Amino acid sequence: MTSGGDSPGMNSAIRSVVRYALSHGVSVTGVSHGYQGLVEKNFIELDRRDVSNIINLGGTFLKTARSEEFLKRAGREKAYKNMTESGIEGFIVIGGNGSYKGALVFNREYDFPAVGIPATIDNDIAGTQETLGFDTALNTAMDAIDKIRDTAYSMDRIFLVEVMGRESGAIAVHSALAGGAEDVIIPEIKQDMDSILEKVKQGRKSGKKSWIIVVAEGSGKTGIMVEELRKYIDDVRVTVIGHIQRGGSPSAFDRILGARMGSAAVDALLRGKRHHAVGWRNDAPVVYPLKDAVEYKRENFSQFIKLIQILT
Ligand code: F6P
Repeated sequence: MTSGGDSPGMNSAIRSVVRYALSHGVSVTGVSHGYQGLVEKNFIELDRRDVSNIINLGGTFLKTARSEEFLKRAGREKAYKNMTESGIEGFIVIGGNGSYKGALVFNREYDFPAVGIPATIDNDIAGTQETLGFDTALNTAMDAIDKIRDTAYSMDRIFLVEVMGRESGAIAVHSALAGGAEDVIIPEIKQDMDSILEKVKQGRKSGKKSWIIVVAEGSGKTGIMVEELRKYIDDVRVTVIGHIQRGGSPSAFDRILGARMGSAAVDALLRGKRHHAVGWRNDAPVVYPLKDAVEYKRENFSQFIKLIQILT
């Protein structure tokens, strides 16, 4: 099943799980709408053909949801009953942090085998260098910055570009560096807003008229920055890229990641792993305890910020 926010590459992972498992003689049941589907017994038997022509599609063909019912014990009890009645012996959840936490609680209560595949555009799952969808979302954000640069340059404007990331500055720092932005604001590091404003003011004085500052949604700083900048400069524009970053055909990398992590998740279940996550390290899948995956992912983005500022 896929759970939580959709991300490009989920379909590739589903296709891989289904076909790899079938090739090992294991039958596969798809769950519609994530954990809610477990609670409501929204199950579909999946065959090889059912996952044809989805590798190139964004979103998730199984559909996804954030389930309130599964958060409650009664909901999880129903889910357990539904799965055992249907002869399900283990599950693979393709999702982000919330989905992993759900799997962990369920696993602790029922000792039911669960393996996670990290999928979120936020790239904020501990123990994996990449999550499914991050690469595609990053390229979408970079493309938006490139386009905004055309108008920023032509009209001597200052732009704040807000990119996604609930608590993570991953898309922000990577897209800012790749898009040649002048500055970046993220939630992980306490940054001095005044010094960012001062640089813009000094830049204007010395003839640098256009400026792109990438702001991670999770920093909550977009509104404040616009207000402050407009005290000195009229021509400030804000672009919130939003859910466009979640959609679209997955990049080659995300498709490959989905295919490789999907098959690794099946292998993990077949080897008897009961509460694990698949991750991606040094160009290969790894399997590690689910409890380590829900830890806070410590990323040191300070080197990124330094470099972005030096290259401005
Ligand atoms: O976790 C992925 C993500 O896209 C975040 O970047 C964003 O904050 C959130 O989901 C948006 O959630 P929703 O689609 O429920 O508005």
